[in-house]
Amino acid sequence: MLRVACLPGDGIGPEVTAVAIEVLRALPLEVEVEEHAFGGGAILAEGTPLPDDTLAACKAADAVVLGAVGLPELEGAPVRPEQGLIGLRKELDVYANLRPATGPGIDLLIVRELVGGLYYGASGRRPDGTAFDTCEYTPEAIERVSRRAFALAGARRGHVTSVDKVNVMHTSRLWRDVVREMGASEFPEIELDHALVDSFAMKIVQFPETIDTVVTENTFGDILSDIAAAMTGGLGLAASASLADDGPGIFEPVHGSAPQIAGQGIANPAAMLRSVALMLSHSFDRADDAAAVEQAVDRALAEAPTPDLGGTAMTAKVGDAVLRALDAARTL
Ligand code: NAD
Ligand code: IPM
Ligand code: MN
Repeated sequence: MLRVACLPGDGIGPEVTAVAIEVLRALPLEVEVEEHAFGGGAILAEGTPLPDDTLAACKAADAVVLGAVGLPELEGAPVRPEQGLIGLRKELDVYANLRPATGPGIDLLIVRELVGGLYYGASGRRPDGTAFDTCEYTPEAIERVSRRAFALAGARRGHVTSVDKVNVMHTSRLWRDVVREMGASEFPEIELDHALVDSFAMKIVQFPETIDTVVTENTFGDILSDIAAAMTGGLGLAASASLADDGPGIFEPVHGSAPQIAGQGIANPAAMLRSVALMLSHSFDRADDAAAVEQAVDRALAEAPTPDLGGTAMTAKVGDAVLRALDAARTL
């Protein structure tokens, strides 16, 4: 029996996790799913975005399926939904965030460091009114995420691009040295190059077909993964897997709570469903089921595109189409 902790969260989060759980239950595997409070809803109900029982359930689970967090009324508030997400990632030590982007002529994978950098350094306000955020990286943090990226590249086209801002930042100089050393000592067969983040953003837009596996720090990876998503049909399609060395991973779309469309039943559930496919292959060793879900999602989107893709299909209709496509594939 596989135990999944489901954190629907805010906005369109619950709309897309509902479809994901329905599809997960339709697969030929024994899975127990429990939902837990998280994000803005948890702040309003309990005063904290990551309640203790939610965290304990995630730690005890085999994997975490997460919708999205974020409520407009809590933007900039002292306690914010996003703190729950950042806290959960740290607690589970999911340092490797895999953000694939695929589409016609594009097949790239961004490996984003997820538990270090600006999001976790000393930060605050000084009495003189100055605000500050600190970016720090230890060599060990860079080693482990780059080791993952090289290993993943070995199963892809054998090329890693490490993205940094070496012309300005100390952390980037360390980043580049550690990644270079990792490549030379453990992965001599993988081709490695380095790029500066600003011009690399442009390269994603102009020459995405030339990019294989990317490894980069937390904030750069956040921004570059939305750009990569835009190149392949938008945030409604972009999945992610956040992995630790041991313990449960978090499977979450790249997108957020999309407050402008929340409650309308028109969110594209594909990013969430593809994240479930990543869970099936990375956490449950079920590559066949993962492939079945991915194919069913592709078929469903062709048949019933949502408004973000230029169609009119509602979230639930895509879900139904996915279930039918899975059924059809099974009876072939
Ligand atoms: P967003 O990803 O929520 O939305 C950006 C744009 O993409 C919007 O136009 C939205 O309508 C569209 N979009 C996103 N997902 C979609 C889907 N599944 N189907 C169709 N359209 C979709 O980003 P934002 O507007 O910058 O942020 C909104 C809130 O979400 C903020 O509070 C932010 O902090 C939070 N956020 C959370 C996560 C997360 O939980 N992992 C990720 C990003 C942003
Ligand atoms: C993402 C989001 C989060 C991040 C926010 C909501 C904290 O943008 O998962 O991409 O920056 O990591
Ligand atoms: Mn983001």
